Amino acid sequence: MSRWDFVGRTDELNRLLSAVGGPEGRGLLFSGSAGVGKSRLLREGVATLPTDRYAIWSVSASATTAALPFGGLVQVLPGEQPPGLSPAGVLRWAVDVLQEEAAGRPIVLAIDDAHLLDPPSAALVHLIARAENATVIGTLRNGEQIPLPIRALWTDDLVELVELGPLGPADTTGLLAAILDAPVDAGSAERLFRLSAGNPLLLRELVLAAVGGGELTRTYGIWQWTGRLELAPSLTDLIDVRIGQLTPGVRSVVELVAFGEPLGLQLLEQAVDPADVETAEERGLISLVRDDRRLDVRLAHPLYGEVMRRQCPVSRTRRLQATLAELLEQVGKRRRDDLLRVAVWRLDSGTAQDPALLLDAAAQAFGRYDVPLATRLARAALEADGGFDAAELLATILMFGDRPDEAIRVLDAVAGEIRSDGRRSRWLTVRGMVSYWGLSHESTVEEIAARAEELTDPTDRARMRAFEAIMRLHRMDTPAALRLAQAVLDRPASSVAARELARCTIAHLHAAQGRYRRSTTAIARVQAEAARWRGDMPYLQLAMELARGTRLTLSGDLAGIDAIVADEFADLAGAGDFRLGTGYLAILRAYAARLRGQSDEALKTSLDACAVLATSRVYAGLAHAERAQAAALRGDPAHAAEAMAEADRTHSPGMAVLYPWLEQARSAVYAAGGDLAGATKHLCALADRLREDGLAGHEVLVLFDLVRLDQAAAPVGPTCTDGGRRTVAQRLADLSERVDGALPPLLARYARAAVEDSPAELLAVADDFAARDLVVFAAEAAALALHRLGRRRAASTAAARDRLAALLGRCDQISTPALRLLQPALTDREWEVARLAADGATSPAIADRLYLSTRTVENHLQRVYSKLGVAGRTELRAALRSMPGHDGGNSG
Ligand SMILES: Nc1ncnc2c1ncn2[C@@H]1O[C@H](COP(=O)(O)OP(=O)(O)OP(=O)(O)O)[C@@H](O)[C@H]1O
Ligand SMILES: [Mg+2]
Repeated sequence: MSRWDFVGRTDELNRLLSAVGGPEGRGLLFSGSAGVGKSRLLREGVATLPTDRYAIWSVSASATTAALPFGGLVQVLPGEQPPGLSPAGVLRWAVDVLQEEAAGRPIVLAIDDAHLLDPPSAALVHLIARAENATVIGTLRNGEQIPLPIRALWTDDLVELVELGPLGPADTTGLLAAILDAPVDAGSAERLFRLSAGNPLLLRELVLAAVGGGELTRTYGIWQWTGRLELAPSLTDLIDVRIGQLTPGVRSVVELVAFGEPLGLQLLEQAVDPADVETAEERGLISLVRDDRRLDVRLAHPLYGEVMRRQCPVSRTRRLQATLAELLEQVGKRRRDDLLRVAVWRLDSGTAQDPALLLDAAAQAFGRYDVPLATRLARAALEADGGFDAAELLATILMFGDRPDEAIRVLDAVAGEIRSDGRRSRWLTVRGMVSYWGLSHESTVEEIAARAEELTDPTDRARMRAFEAIMRLHRMDTPAALRLAQAVLDRPASSVAARELARCTIAHLHAAQGRYRRSTTAIARVQAEAARWRGDMPYLQLAMELARGTRLTLSGDLAGIDAIVADEFADLAGAGDFRLGTGYLAILRAYAARLRGQSDEALKTSLDACAVLATSRVYAGLAHAERAQAAALRGDPAHAAEAMAEADRTHSPGMAVLYPWLEQARSAVYAAGGDLAGATKHLCALADRLREDGLAGHEVLVLFDLVRLDQAAAPVGPTCTDGGRRTVAQRLADLSERVDGALPPLLARYARAAVEDSPAELLAVADDFAARDLVVFAAEAAALALHRLGRRRAASTAAARDRLAALLGRCDQISTPALRLLQPALTDREWEVARLAADGATSPAIADRLYLSTRTVENHLQRVYSKLGVAGRTELRAALRSMPGHDGGNSG
């Protein structure tokens, strides 16, 4: 990882290049903090300048050269100076030398770290900048002394001074991928972005340290960071330099903020001298941010905190944390998270004696989906004799930290403390959850059902029933699931959490059945009650997301998916390592990208999901199935087959409710491998199974997959009373009246148009798909229209072709059976000739290039025209552009 590609900075590069080539002849200096990327930007800019047009000199000043007269420009000036010249004479001589060497070309002088130029060099640079035909470009580091002649460059308007800011999140992610030579999962990228604050140098050091310490690892080709940080000496040195020497008073300020940020200014000033706070702010170590009505103090850079905390001896750390806890307890805990902060300081300073405080704090951390912190606090609560309640909470959190075995041990250790039915019901549900989802023990359902019978209190029973209901749904025992969930809803004694969990179960089932309106209403209810269930069952959010995600995916509501992946929960889950949440949302993102034809993003995001979900079995099969779909869409059968095998290996039988997605993916894998008959057969059987299971929402999509394979007229389902069977198109028409939403009628229209051979209607359908951002389906509809138009050389053919080309232009590389329909069997030679002709080459030119006779070229072209159904060269380009993977340019 010694050298990596340059990332982002397009605007800055353009600015630099137009400064050199521009008419006003003004140069440009980038200023910025250490490591922000000034030198690299300058180097990249200079490298793109043509050396035959410009006389370019690049120099970098440094502390060593600063000590010597003309040291900064040794690379520019001849070794020997003519003797006996006055200082002014030397400068004139130097300018003349450069002009001579430039031989009439404009001069470009690029100076890295211009603040380090020695005085004569600085004066010379100023003089050069004044010359008609010269431009000075360069960099300056913020906070350094700048020689006067250099400062005069912008006060005299000879250069423009531009502040170079940190990289944004997207460019940081790009830089990470460039440094590591492979993508980084979204959560890790986000955390590294925050820690480095977009500073490339710090990012590089962080990554090197993490790789060196084994804290960055690769799963399914995606880098993931454990979140642990090994501060390598190079990194600490870097930051030490930035922090500089501190007086004891200022050090206290920075240390308290490092352990306590964000810290109210008032609170901080009770513990330290306000003058020291001021100094720390002036020196750029801390910054004040307004939050509501109060002023909060934070460190100016997140890495300062890392370094300060690590360099602080243990005893001092503990004292600081105890001080912070006392301070906050004295002024009274005001904010929602004050309790959590006090608990963490007490815990870390070894002064936590109150199990109730720790337990409250653990529940609060879990309520924010911060799994590592919640685990730590709950464990401490248990160790501080928190007893049964602490064990219950810790076990629950361990389950979501993918440590089911440990969770069971924790629960079994307190089995002797179950002294009431209330406890028994809680203990059994948590243990059931760990056993069912964490350990994939399917028999849990029966155990839970039997044990619930032993309870007499209706509230306790309802809790058990709510869990049994969702387990039964997940293993596809849907009638029983529905019955149980409904019973929980009907019982006034049910707790809010039990009731809303039951509602999620029903909402999920309704979504799979295509009853989207009812599902939406139910989810809205669950969400409205969130404040009342979150404390008791934060993980209920997962059941809600799964129900909602099922509806959004089945109804093709991509905007809805965008909205939930942008929601607060996604951020919390990502930051708190709540993997089931993050992983499921990544699957949804991949799905939306796939339907939009963004196959790169679909593949990348589904890989992300696989990596995040690698240690759990709940959604792992689904993640790999989505990856198989993405690979199939890209026309990569080997990858698709590998992903499908992984889906089968990791899929948990306890998550049988997800089978439609896996089986749909399997047919896509068959089709990608060229086995269209196998894909068709599989989809027909799947449609039958879904019909029997009553999952009409899924059935619609599966029937539609058959239409996409040009099987709209194929028979499906049982033999009817009239002795015949319905076709795919007919069944879709039936279902479109039963399944909610606007998508099913659109799919039914598509099927009918395919059967009735109506290109105009197919194009209309394509437009409707495109309006919903369902770009792949739109392209396929347009491709089918074009195919049906066949060789009719009508104006409509040209229009359809344009439409298809525009749709494919919105996609990354995609290849589906419907799109491949269009691929006429051109030979390699014919492709070659066709592409050159489409690019405007004449027949003799093509002949020359390919070592053929002009006559042969003409023959090839005639065959191409007739295969593509075009009249001549003018139409050829559009025809090639509307072929996936053959845009007439460099691909294919
Ligand atoms: N846009 C970028 N793409 C790829 N790598 C970058 C980019 N910007 C900076 N880097 C890398 O980050 C590191 C720090 O960048 P650079 O040396 O340019 O910082 P600087 O601003 O010149 O710092 P200093 O003030 O210390 O001179 C280098 O390894 C550089 O290659
Ligand atoms: Mg530099």
